[in-house]
Amino acid sequence: MTTHLKIPGLSLPHDSAELHVTGQARYVDDMPVPAGTLHLAFGLSTEASATIDAIDLTPVRQSPGVVKVLTAADMPHENNASPAPLPEPVLAEGEVHYIGQPIFLVVATSHRAARIAARRAKIAYTSRPALLTIDAAHEAGSLFEGGPVIWSRGDAAEALSHATHIAEGEFEMGGQEHFYLEGQAAIAHPLDQGVLIQCSSQHPTEIQHKVAEALGLHMHDVRVEMRRMGGGFGGKESQGNHLAIACAIAAQATGRTCKMRYDRDDDMVITGKRHDFKIRYRIGADAQGRILGAEFLHLARCGWSPDLSLPVCDRAMLHSDSSYYIPAIRIESHRLRTNTQSNTAYRGFGGPQGMLGCEVAVEHLAHVMGLEPTDLRARNYYPAEAPFLSTHYGQEVDDSILDRLVPRLLERSHYAARKAAIANWNAANRTLKRGIAMSPVKFGISFTLTHLNQAGALAHVYADGSVLINHGGTEMGQGLHRKCCQVAARVFGIEPDRVRITATDTSKVPNTSATAASSGADMNGMAVKAACETIKARLRDFLSTREGCPPEAIRFCGGKVHVGARELTFDEVAHDAYTARVSLSSTGFYATPKISWDRIEGRGRPFFYFAYGAAVTEVVIDTLTGENRILRADIVHDAGDSLNPAIDIGQVEGAYVQGSGWLTTEELVWDGKGRLSTHAPSTYKIPACSDRPPVFNVDLWDEPNREETIYRSKAVGEPPFMLGISTLLALQEACAACGPHWPALRAPATAEAVLAACARARGDEA
Ligand code: MTE
Ligand code: MOS
Repeated sequence: MTTHLKIPGLSLPHDSAELHVTGQARYVDDMPVPAGTLHLAFGLSTEASATIDAIDLTPVRQSPGVVKVLTAADMPHENNASPAPLPEPVLAEGEVHYIGQPIFLVVATSHRAARIAARRAKIAYTSRPALLTIDAAHEAGSLFEGGPVIWSRGDAAEALSHATHIAEGEFEMGGQEHFYLEGQAAIAHPLDQGVLIQCSSQHPTEIQHKVAEALGLHMHDVRVEMRRMGGGFGGKESQGNHLAIACAIAAQATGRTCKMRYDRDDDMVITGKRHDFKIRYRIGADAQGRILGAEFLHLARCGWSPDLSLPVCDRAMLHSDSSYYIPAIRIESHRLRTNTQSNTAYRGFGGPQGMLGCEVAVEHLAHVMGLEPTDLRARNYYPAEAPFLSTHYGQEVDDSILDRLVPRLLERSHYAARKAAIANWNAANRTLKRGIAMSPVKFGISFTLTHLNQAGALAHVYADGSVLINHGGTEMGQGLHRKCCQVAARVFGIEPDRVRITATDTSKVPNTSATAASSGADMNGMAVKAACETIKARLRDFLSTREGCPPEAIRFCGGKVHVGARELTFDEVAHDAYTARVSLSSTGFYATPKISWDRIEGRGRPFFYFAYGAAVTEVVIDTLTGENRILRADIVHDAGDSLNPAIDIGQVEGAYVQGSGWLTTEELVWDGKGRLSTHAPSTYKIPACSDRPPVFNVDLWDEPNREETIYRSKAVGEPPFMLGISTLLALQEACAACGPHWPALRAPATAEAVLAACARARGDEA
């Protein structure tokens, strides 16, 4: 067995799996803190849109255990948590813009004391009318960027005028709470110079940058250490800035370690979520079912501050073609400013919303044409062979595999036979109806902001032959550290247990990007490889001189180093190189090649490559109660030459379930005042173990990435999220079985929404 040659492809468990399941993995709230540590809580706005006339904090200061209370006026330097060019105050400055906005900061001797005190402020507001919904903001013209963003190719209206078949409609999809198991949390330790932050963040460099600005320090005075997150899902790209800044300010003001974690309700009330969208579409095809043109209007609720909304909405536009070549297309995107939480990154980063808009339109078009939806789709995939076609933003799609992947999935899942059986079953059953649907995924990999596509790593080989790796990526459960460890093991030809990855640390690898856009392993894996290869080249040179053999004759394999006919252990070589004074430490760097992007024009090659996949989902609904469930899911997903199939299959399963949750049970509700009513698991329903499809077949597509990524693997974090779209389409099919009309099922497809769609299908008066 020479499995060590394929170490990156080994299905090793997550490097912390044992710690996770035994409860020993340390999260921020588990970190030992020094005696005298102080605890923080924010005082929150109870108005959605108002001017603050007066704040009386005396009762807060008098509350037991309170050490200090800070407002915007006490911020020593920048009062800005924003990840974007437009500022976002950490503490409100005279005005509030949503219910839950932090106004003041309580520093107390315990978490409980801080939370109790935070409720005791007396604040006088003059309230203004609040813009709470997409419709209200759209009518009021409340937009970021001064106006809509429009990208187009060709003349969509003209193309649609030649179409034989047209589908037109409007569709709503809800937002989504991240519901990471570990809530937002941070600790700041004052140092004799600067501060050390420990936090739960996908973006330690941004925390470093914002804390430095807030304290008036240089970045080298702020060190951020991040061991692991109990889930991030995009919600810890920017939304943790406030806590880290608050802890840093309080630590500076008191000289003591300060710690803050949001209680679950506060976390849900304060932080942003996935953007909810309303999409209007018009799509048309010729008599043969070739799509001629499409128009999309995206209305996105961004919340009160820009945060990451603009790139999120861009990505929605970039995925408006889903998997299809649409020769003439126009997308108009409104980024609506509302008096609600500032919506943010969430797995797929707008891609799911854009893609769902297109898939709903295509499904509707198939209904209008009386065509099997999978046939309509098959006629419109980007071709797998030259001549290739370009997307609406001008990137040639030369790596499409859907022409082969989807047929294999349909065959493996017996789609056609099951669909026929379901039609018979539905004809015989009045109360329960079944539905089956397939949806494909094509997801662009890279940050659209080109300069973010870079990564660094630091590798040490110790004199005993053990290896320590540090890289710029963060571990949030997705298995990035395990994958990077496997990369280092492969370069040195050693067992993965000889390699350790330590906490992400801004003092070890600087200027890192967020671990996001699914590019964690692509970029940090390459940087780790580069760092290890530099050391390996030095070891080769050293051995080549000492043993008098050409460097090409030296091979690293199975924990051994073969020098011609001689065999040494890797540990011996490391020890000998150390005594010969060879440097055994190196940095590594990677910048993604081939990409360029003009955001204003909406043209270029924003993506290094695309990741593909497809899912078939079967559901059943109860037409009397709207109750519904998934019966079976079949998935084929493309992870290229997988770095770790076990981890990748876990990512695909988790993403599918999370994507299905978004579109079924996870409903966010605000009351008429702008208060989030669903701020706890009692009212906000994420999928549970029992919601996992009872039949769940997940296969990885077995073909290397055509681009030169790390060992020809593909990014896998976000793309499979969109496989959940098949769940909504299957539910819509089941509703459609109730009558002749288009049911236009909204998302999330709660029991209520399913009932309404069944009624629409029957043509019942509302
Ligand atoms: N998987 C787990 N278990 N936990 C997470 O928080 N986040 C997802 C995805 N998979 C997430 C996850 C998101 S939003 C992204 S962008 C990627 O992981 C980030 O990690 P990667 O780039 O290393 O895949
Ligand atoms: Mo993922 S939404 O890019 O953090």
